[in-house]
Amino acid sequence: MKDLLGLQQTDISDIRRILETASNFKEILARPVKKVPTLRGRSMITLFYESSTRTRTSFELAAKIMSAEAINIAVAQSSISKGESLKDTLRTLQSLTADCVVIRHPSSGAAEMAAEYADIPIINAGDGRHEHPTQGLLDILTIWQHKVVGREDETYPGVINPNRPFDLTGLTVAIIGDLAHSRVARSNVWGLTKLGAKVRWCGPKTLVPVECERLPITLTHSLEEAMTGADVVMVLRLQLERQEKGLLPSLREYCKIWGVTPKSLQVAKPDVLVMHPGPMNRGIEISADVADGVGGIRAAIEDQVTNGVAVRMACLYLLMGGGSGDDE
Ligand code: NCD
Repeated sequence: MKDLLGLQQTDISDIRRILETASNFKEILARPVKKVPTLRGRSMITLFYESSTRTRTSFELAAKIMSAEAINIAVAQSSISKGESLKDTLRTLQSLTADCVVIRHPSSGAAEMAAEYADIPIINAGDGRHEHPTQGLLDILTIWQHKVVGREDETYPGVINPNRPFDLTGLTVAIIGDLAHSRVARSNVWGLTKLGAKVRWCGPKTLVPVECERLPITLTHSLEEAMTGADVVMVLRLQLERQEKGLLPSLREYCKIWGVTPKSLQVAKPDVLVMHPGPMNRGIEISADVADGVGGIRAAIEDQVTNGVAVRMACLYLLMGGGSGDDE
């Protein structure tokens, strides 16, 4: 595996290897001194053509925890603003001796193009509405820890039996919201179904992509139907920056029909886990009470963020060829 471009083309064995590595790395994040020499002497460059808080910062933290150099290209102040092409930018970063480039781009397929231009590993941190594989992986790790491991051994949540492969058979995940523009929804579909989970998609007709007939999902426009008996409810952000005018007749109507609230969760399993990739539009796709886990609602939004660091450590480690691990 040279690159991580999407979960659709990633083998189940590679998905499991990343998740297992990430769950082992979680222990490092719990230490008072979060530093291991594993990637000393390597360098990771983040090249983000779109804004980001969690993804870029967690890649940077992940690299630094493993002692790699982390360099961020501020796209607006780089030669990209002078018109430099993606190909020339990638060739330049490679010539600067970067060991890995993490790219986020508004165009679907840009990460794949970058991987063709460069010999070094490319990690897709979100390309348009196509895929966001590390988000899919951190979501799966979060579901695994809450729904499988947490249930098996409440005293040690997060400690995974290394002899047991990651498997989500029997779980139903409802993904709600702006499916048309969501790379998170697509990466989750591939990752979750490869591991045996059932995926339901739910959103207004105007926010459902045409290709969804070819995806391994069940589609419904009824929030109640999507939520009934669900083990996990994943709420998506309304991506207003990607929406052409007219896709949403009324924000208030959207919120009333598809907004996830304590009331709408009542038909889900009693221990339903609520997730959101962030950033949230509080009070629109998700109510504040659900987001904050008020009244016994199990919201895993902050766990998702922490798991994001572990997953990105695992991806960098596996793609940049970390040491044997003996020196950790
Ligand atoms: C997502 C993204 O950028 O695709 N955010 C993230 O990486 N955590 C989802 C979003 O922006 O809504």
